[in-house]
Order: sequence, then C-alpha cells, then structure tokens
Amino acid sequence: MQNAGIAELQLNWRYLAFDVHPDELGEAILGAKIMKFVGLNLTVPHKLMALQHVDVVDEAARQWGAINTIRFEGQDRTGAWQPVAELPPETIQKIRSVGFNTDADAIIRSLREDLKLEPRGASILLLGAGGAGQAAALRLAQEGAAQLHLVNRTQSKAEELAGLIGRSYPGVRVAAAYPKARVDLVLNATSLGLKPEDALPFDPARFDLSSASAVYDMIYRPAESPLLATARKIGCQTANGLGMLLYQGAKALEIWTGSSPPIAAMRKALEQNVYGR
Ligand code: ATR
Repeated sequence: MQNAGIAELQLNWRYLAFDVHPDELGEAILGAKIMKFVGLNLTVPHKLMALQHVDVVDEAARQWGAINTIRFEGQDRTGAWQPVAELPPETIQKIRSVGFNTDADAIIRSLREDLKLEPRGASILLLGAGGAGQAAALRLAQEGAAQLHLVNRTQSKAEELAGLIGRSYPGVRVAAAYPKARVDLVLNATSLGLKPEDALPFDPARFDLSSASAVYDMIYRPAESPLLATARKIGCQTANGLGMLLYQGAKALEIWTGSSPPIAAMRKALEQNVYGR
C-alpha cells in the first residue's frame, strides 16, 4: 500500500518492514533518526510504548494515547523544524522525532464509508480496551456517541477506560458492561478472530448479536472473521478493518510527504496484497 502510494507520488523512497523487539523500540527509533529516515509506522505491540520514545507528541496522539506514525524533522539553517525529506541531508543540523496517531480518524472515516454509520448519537458496544480499543473509544466519544458499552477480557482495563471517558466526555453515557438494549454498532478491537480457532470476541450468553444493527471488525485478514460471518448470517450490516488500515496508511503518507495521498492506488495495492485480487 505505501510503496504503491510512494510510486504514484514519484518519490524515490522505499517502505520496508522491520521486526523490532519491544525492549529495543527506543534504540530502533533512534537508529532510524540517525540514519535520516523520513518516518516510521508502528504497530502491535509498540503503539502505546512509543509515547515514551519520541521527542515530540502531536496533540491527537496525546489525546488518543497511542502513536502509530512518526515523522522525523530536521532543523534547517534558520533553526526551523522541517520534515527531513524536504532538507538536503548535508544541511541538517539536528533531528527530532514527532509522534502522530492516524488510527483514530481512520476508524471514524471507515465506519461512515463502509457501514454508512454516523457515530454521533449512536449506541455502541466496543470489544477490547487495548491500544486500538482505547483510541477508538475516545475518538467515538469525541465524535458524540450517545452510549459506549466497553467490554474487555481484563475487566479492570475496561473500567479504567470507562472512567477516563466519563471524565473527559461527560455527555457520553459510558459503562464497562454489556448493553441491555439494542445497539447501533458492535465494534471489535480485540485480536480475537485472527486465528480460525478463535472464539467470538464477546460472550453469547450475555449479549445477543441479533440486537446489533451493524458489526465492524478491525480485523481484515481473514476478510470475514467468525464474528462477521455470524453477523452477516443473522442480517447485520458488516464491514472489516481494511478501510481503517487504508485510511490510517494514507494519512501517514500525507504526514511524511505533505502531499494528498493517492487513495485509489493504495487501495488497489492493499486489496491485491491482502486478498490476492
Ligand atoms: P492493539 O494495539 O491491537 O489494541 P493490544 O493493546 O495488545 O493491541 O490489545 C489487544 C486487545 O485484544 C485487548 O483488548 C486484549 O484483552 P486484554 O486487555 O484482556 O489483554 C484483547 N485480547 C487479546 N487476546 C484475547 C483473548 N484471547 N481473549 C479475549 N481478548 C483478547
């Protein structure tokens, strides 16, 4: 997806994947900075820890509590910070890392486009209170969701997140519990469903999926998780996380390049690589 976007923008850049142990995240970011990388994306399990390893945290990343994109900026001769990509390497005096979050906006955009769901006023059951779940919950609260029901394997994390939302967004009704009435959306932000043998990410004895109008699964591979397959069979509207993946990546490319991202080329490459079509 990123290399297709880079090619479309005619940049002589390469997007590469590196497997970094969580204990060495700080060194990896420092190494990329020293080698004058343009930027980085971070994924599981680095998104929360990265907050401690960047020089500057963008406002949205601070608000959503996670970083998935880093841009390296160099000081030009006047002392102003510019993206490293825009400076001749030999003129760069000093480099800093700036952390961004592009996941939170991407989930909202994908919900609107792929499910035609407007978060404002919606009642939502959110499964998962890890990095992705937290960013989604906070962003949905900011968007004006009416009710958020937070469910997580580790109940204390759901309660902590419910407390944070209650304090930050007093207009949102929030509870760390299953809903008792119909919901507009069930949103899966857990990793359950990645493996074929995984159980459903909620307890069917405590929640009846037919009381949901729509189901969104952040998982995009398999294209139809057991959760989405069950939801489709009982008539819920469904969407997987490919749209979220696309939009978080497109926004990251925009942050690095300052150019508007070539969404169509990126979507095509993503579908080819993820689903082979
Ligand atoms: P991410 O950044 O993708 O959110 P994460 O922070 O590791 O990754 O969060 C993973 C989420 O999936 C958490 O909500 C986790 O539940 P816990 O907070 O209890 O760990 C959930 N999860 C992972 N494996 C699970 C499993 N086997 N059963 C239920 N929930 C699971």
